[in-house]
Amino acid sequence: MRAIQFKRFGGPEVLERVEVPEPHVTANQIRVLVKAVGVNPVDWKFRQGMMGGELPQGTGLEVAGVVDEVGDEITDVTAGDSVFGSAQRGAADFAVLEHYARVPASLDFAAAAGLTVAVETATRTLDLIGVSEGHTVLVNGAAGAVGIATVQLARERSARVIGTASAVNHDYLRSYGAEPTIYGEGLVERVRELAPDGVDRAIDDAGGGALPALVELAGGPEHVVTIADYEGAQSTGVTMSGGAEHANRRDLGSLRLVGTVAGRSTRRHGSGSTWSSEGSAARSSIHGGRPKPSRS
Ligand SMILES: NC(=O)c1ccc[n+]([C@@H]2O[C@H](COP(=O)([O-])OP(=O)(O)OC[C@H]3O[C@@H](n4cnc5c(N)ncnc54)[C@H](OP(=O)(O)O)[C@@H]3O)[C@@H](O)[C@H]2O)c1
Repeated sequence: MRAIQFKRFGGPEVLERVEVPEPHVTANQIRVLVKAVGVNPVDWKFRQGMMGGELPQGTGLEVAGVVDEVGDEITDVTAGDSVFGSAQRGAADFAVLEHYARVPASLDFAAAAGLTVAVETATRTLDLIGVSEGHTVLVNGAAGAVGIATVQLARERSARVIGTASAVNHDYLRSYGAEPTIYGEGLVERVRELAPDGVDRAIDDAGGGALPALVELAGGPEHVVTIADYEGAQSTGVTMSGGAEHANRRDLGSLRLVGTVAGRSTRRHGSGSTWSSEGSAARSSIHGGRPKPSRS
């Protein structure tokens, strides 16, 4: 089958299309014919060697596609079903999945492919700091792929959400029920104008050095979590969520939940950028940043 791989670390130019053997399932896995692949910041972090690992490496941690092979223990989907979920090397003709859910009727493959990383991360962080009904939650980087998923899932829990973003994204945040403010210097004062007593919880979905302000606003590091600021977490005592230590939290529940949420809406939900397995956009779209999510 065809797959996108890199044999050395570097920029988008190291990506190449190669022929590799098709993967097959074990008892608790399904295989999909890949229709679309999500593109996340972690893809370029792997590609540039920031995450280590042996070469060559495949790419693509989330896909949507059509089931074509099921393991002996699988009972919830059959061949021909449309699903989305986590993959190891999803940028290929076929991908093997263990964590997946059905594609909601309101979404196409490209929209569904971009959900998994954002939704799993958002759910994991909301659970870690116990966001629940009545809380006021500050989301730093709320207009990003993970951020907008966090906003929507926090609103699902009946929390009040204040989100930081560039001014150009403020209407976008309002459209999902968040109260926007810009990020950067003076954040504590701006948030106190909206919430004079501070916030109950804070989630850093962007990095950028905001953790001291988030800790001050939330009343302590135990009420704050980051997914993008390892050093800041160490200096402030905030939990850095991500990597193998949180792998056991990556369950099907969050994907099924987002399927339900997305299925109730005709809007496109906050998702990463995606490219079609038949398209040629992969090389140019997987670079040191990412195209903005769809705002339709
Ligand atoms: N640990 C984990 O499990 C995990 C999982 C997924 C992602 N991540 C990491 O989390 C980060 C975000 O991922 P993503 O997919 O959401 O990225 P993304 O879609 O590129 O969004 C990043 C957002 O950050 C905002 N931003 C930029 N500079 C900022 C600053 N100084 N302060 C606050 N916000 C700022 C931008 O907002 P504006 O556009 O409004 O300027 C942008 O929307 C990446 O570093 C990624 O590698 C970690």
